[in-house]
Amino acid sequence: MPSVRVRFRVNGEWVQAQGPLDRRLIDVLRQDLRLPGPLEGCGQGECGSCLVLFNQKAVNACLLPLFAAADAEVFTAEGIAGARAFAGLPGWIRRRGLAEVQRRCGRCAPGMLVALAGLYLGNPEAEAEELADALSGNRCTCGTGARP
Ligand code: FES
Repeated sequence: MPSVRVRFRVNGEWVQAQGPLDRRLIDVLRQDLRLPGPLEGCGQGECGSCLVLFNQKAVNACLLPLFAAADAEVFTAEGIAGARAFAGLPGWIRRRGLAEVQRRCGRCAPGMLVALAGLYLGNPEAEAEELADALSGNRCTCGTGARP
C-alpha cells in the first residue's frame, strides 16, 4: 500500500506524520504524538469519544484518514484546555447549561469538551438547548448508560 507524509498543526504546533493511506488521524494523535484526549470508543464514528477540532469543526478522528489532515489545524481536548482562544469556554459552558456535562462519568469528557468548543467557536450565543444538540453525538462508552 502506498504511504503518505503529512504536515499539519496540532494544538498550535506543526507536526509531521506518515503512514499507509488508510492510517487514521486518531492513531497518529494517540500513538505518535502521545495525546490521550482523543479516546477510541466505537471506532465507527458513533460515540464521539475521539472528537477533535479539525479546522474549527468537531470531527471524529477515528473516521479521518491521515492524508486528509494535510495543512489542517487540529485541536485535541488537552490543546483546547490550554489554548488562549478557548479561555472563556469554561465560563461559557457554566452559563449555558452545565447540567448536560455533569451527568457524565468523565470518560467521554474530552469528546464533550471538543464538541462544545466547536459550538463555542461557531455560535458563541448558543443556549442550553443548542449545547444539548452539540452533545448529541457523544455517546456513553463507560457502560453506565448516561446519555444526553
Ligand atoms: S471512536 Fe470515533 S466516534 Fe467512536
